[in-house]
Amino acid sequence: MASCDLSLLCTSGLAIATALLLWAAIGRRRKAGEPPLINGWIPFLGKALSFMKDPSTFLLSQQQKFGNIFTIHLAGKYCTFFMDPFQFVYIVRNCKQLGFQEFADKMISRSFDVPSILSTKFPELNENLHRMYQYLQGKSLDMLSEDMMKNLQQIFERKCSQATDWEAEKMYKFCCSVMFEASFITLYGRVPAADGHKVISEIRDKFTKFDANFPYLVLGIPVELLGATKKVRKELIRHFSYQNMTKWLGGSEVIQARKDLFEKYELLTVYDKAAHHFTFLWASVANTIPATFWAMYYLLRHPEALAVVRDEIDHLLQSTGQKKGPGYNIHLTREQLDNLVYLESAVNESLRMCSSSINLRLCQEDFILKLDGNQKATLRKGDLVALYPPTLHMDPEVYEDPKEYKFDRYIENGKKKTTFYKRGRKLKYFLMPFGSGSTKCPGRFFAVNEIKLFLILFVTHFDAEIVENKNLGFDNSRMGLGILLPDSDIAFRYKIKSLEK
Ligand code: HEM
Repeated sequence: MASCDLSLLCTSGLAIATALLLWAAIGRRRKAGEPPLINGWIPFLGKALSFMKDPSTFLLSQQQKFGNIFTIHLAGKYCTFFMDPFQFVYIVRNCKQLGFQEFADKMISRSFDVPSILSTKFPELNENLHRMYQYLQGKSLDMLSEDMMKNLQQIFERKCSQATDWEAEKMYKFCCSVMFEASFITLYGRVPAADGHKVISEIRDKFTKFDANFPYLVLGIPVELLGATKKVRKELIRHFSYQNMTKWLGGSEVIQARKDLFEKYELLTVYDKAAHHFTFLWASVANTIPATFWAMYYLLRHPEALAVVRDEIDHLLQSTGQKKGPGYNIHLTREQLDNLVYLESAVNESLRMCSSSINLRLCQEDFILKLDGNQKATLRKGDLVALYPPTLHMDPEVYEDPKEYKFDRYIENGKKKTTFYKRGRKLKYFLMPFGSGSTKCPGRFFAVNEIKLFLILFVTHFDAEIVENKNLGFDNSRMGLGILLPDSDIAFRYKIKSLEK
């Protein structure tokens, strides 16, 4: 038996050694002009494990060894990272040779079970869908924000009617339930049934289950290997069936425009259209909920910041003759919301701390990318190009004490601060939670408004405090994918503020 084990061990040892040798022999080689190549020694995975464990630390260590541009083998893909923020502009503006659509389309199609929007079966669907993003700006944005305010107010009033004294809750759960419901009603409309609130809670619970496995879908792990994810995704998509959606009351221009557009494509099945609506729901809440959580968490953790933000809101309400608290509706114009500079700075600061969106592009051809100061990088067709903004967000040269939450970091002389420097030079890119260039989030203005509105209503309705003595970290499974979730939830309590006379 022992000799059998030994021979088995030798055979598998030999197989691994052969695989490693083969890998070393046929693994990619760096060509002249190309950035330094980091292959890693694990066949097929390359450096994927080290990268996924802690992308920022890994990338900074590679930057120290190889400089500002290097190519890493990550699970079968070669990805060239540009670490110097002054180089970002050269990648962002080169949309022709550095595209993104095909890569994103495949990932979205596999994760959300939607057909490719680039397929010739659906002529110009991609362009038409992008055109619909106009309904997330200008007058449409004002209407969306107004509706969001009304819907948030109704939810906060319901919370007030249920609260008698101090109410204890988990903070992430609280933010998730309020933001999911308000965003859902604002975008898709109110579910008219007597149990409409329950229906939205059911969708939210399924969404949370799906979202927990979303990072694995992005990595390309087949949905069949992810437990109940396939079933949950199907159920979620079915909620957006034509019959259900026509019953929902109100809703936004952007969703109506998308519905009308899908009707023009005969080859999109009923299920495909529902899957598109579900994809948009994911985009609109999956990052906004954790971003709202962190904005609230940091404010409650920093009473000095909360006091300044609260004062700013109180001052605005007083100067516009509005009363605050339960029973009073607040109306704010776009300009008034924009002028809450301390609130905005606090939101931006939490976004700086918790966002982890990698910006990816796919090289469409072999070419030489011209960079800052006569530098060049030779890039290969089919490779990925990546910017990883968290290393910029945590750069001590750009942000003093980057690990510290400073709510007024984005304020200078009482006004919005937009000038940040590195090596004595002004940076064009200094805060990038919403991506960059042609793939920049079209919902970014609405997202920031939503978070501001939530915080305004929260601080005008309630006094609150964190009651659990622990510091939260980030759930690393989402590194690179957007706003990070906390590694655990945290208990807090809140109490209705006394009514204003
Ligand atoms: C804090 C909240 C949010 C964050 C951090 C965020 C972040 C992002 C990022 C980084 C991307 C680009 C991904 C890439 O590189 O391709 C993106 C795309 C997108 N976001 Fe957001 N987002 C947020 C909220 C929203 C909201 C509220 C909406 C809609 C109401 C929305 C709709 C979209 C859509 C539709 C896309 C895909 C755009 C395309 O087709 O190219 N997002 N978001």
